[in-house]
Amino acid sequence: MKTLQVELGERSYPIYIGSGLLKRSELLTKHIKSRQVLVVTNETIAPLYLETILQHLPEYIVETVILPDGEQYKTLDKVSRIFDKLLAGKFSRNATLIALGGGVIGDMGGFAAACYQRGIAFLQIPTTLLAQVDSSVGGKTGVNHPLGKNMIGAFYQPQCVIADADVLDTLDDRQLSAGLAEVIKYGLIRDAEFFEWLENNIGALLARDKNALATAIERSCLNKAEIVAADETETGVRATLNLGHTFGHAIETGVGYGEYLHGEAVAIGTCQAADLSRRLGWLTDADVERIITLFKNTKLPVNPPEQLGSERFLDLMAVDKKNVDGQIRLILLKQIGLATLPTDVNSELLALTLNTYGRK
Ligand code: NAD
Ligand code: GLY
Repeated sequence: MKTLQVELGERSYPIYIGSGLLKRSELLTKHIKSRQVLVVTNETIAPLYLETILQHLPEYIVETVILPDGEQYKTLDKVSRIFDKLLAGKFSRNATLIALGGGVIGDMGGFAAACYQRGIAFLQIPTTLLAQVDSSVGGKTGVNHPLGKNMIGAFYQPQCVIADADVLDTLDDRQLSAGLAEVIKYGLIRDAEFFEWLENNIGALLARDKNALATAIERSCLNKAEIVAADETETGVRATLNLGHTFGHAIETGVGYGEYLHGEAVAIGTCQAADLSRRLGWLTDADVERIITLFKNTKLPVNPPEQLGSERFLDLMAVDKKNVDGQIRLILLKQIGLATLPTDVNSELLALTLNTYGRK
């Protein structure tokens, strides 16, 4: 097992990464400081892993909430079901919530923990690659609104993250690829050497080689932990983690939550960001080609959906947490391994990207 630390003063916490971690009671129980425990998961993950978690908790008063599965259920309404259970069970302020699942469950469980009695402890047990390399680390929690993705939320750090690579065995190939989109992101924004490693090892990752996956998870978490430690509430460098996300969120909202996986939308959005970076003279044609090729080799889509015209795209991109005074702000690339957040976006070049990039 590898242990990384997210350094945030009194809110610091460990990320445990390895195999067989869900079988280790002590990893879980040492972070539970209460008798009352609520496990939040969904109907797909519950039959796979809920029992394994519950077996470690015979001495606790445990309740469970099993939510429907899907991005379209990442709503305030479904978070209310968590509050209902906490209140019906008379859970106190010292209770602990365990979020067992992918990014949807982690974001919702964390948000419920942030809000219930103004904050109870919570543990992240991420079960998708995407959640292990990104969403479970850093304390961004929240839900979607019909008008904008992740627009309701809170920064709220977990007590620990337990990333057991064995749970990826049950993840389907499409979800694995979607998780790799966020892995590639770290290479693009700040780790050119990792990007090159990914180019050389994408076959092994897709074949679920355990060593390759362990390297990818560790290197991603290391990058994320450093960024979060430097900028917990996204006043600066943390925004670079949103490479491709403004385009991607517009795709997710515009086409309907759940149609594209988050990682798929991010892959397309990253290609759009790369195209715009090339138009600004920062990336070369060869850089953009490398980026598109890696996403294609990862079995991810690279072209935006036909039905989203540029006007609708722009309208959707105007609802984004990075925007300042209603103006769109984008994360772009100065080079592979170096992201930038320009203060304003050249609207003519952006229009060119939206009108031409990926359109047949
Ligand atoms: P997800 O949570 O919907 O999980 C994907 C699918 O895999 C679901 O059907 C789920 O039930 C299933 N699943 C989960 N674990 C499994 C397992 N081990 N075996 C079999 N099936 C399993 O999606 P995701 O890709 O994990 O997360 C996407 C969400 O994360 C989005 O809502 C996105 O906005 C959010 N996100 C948040 C952050 C953050 O910093 N908080 C960062 C990136 C993404
Ligand atoms: N996934 C973006 C962030 O954590 O900031």
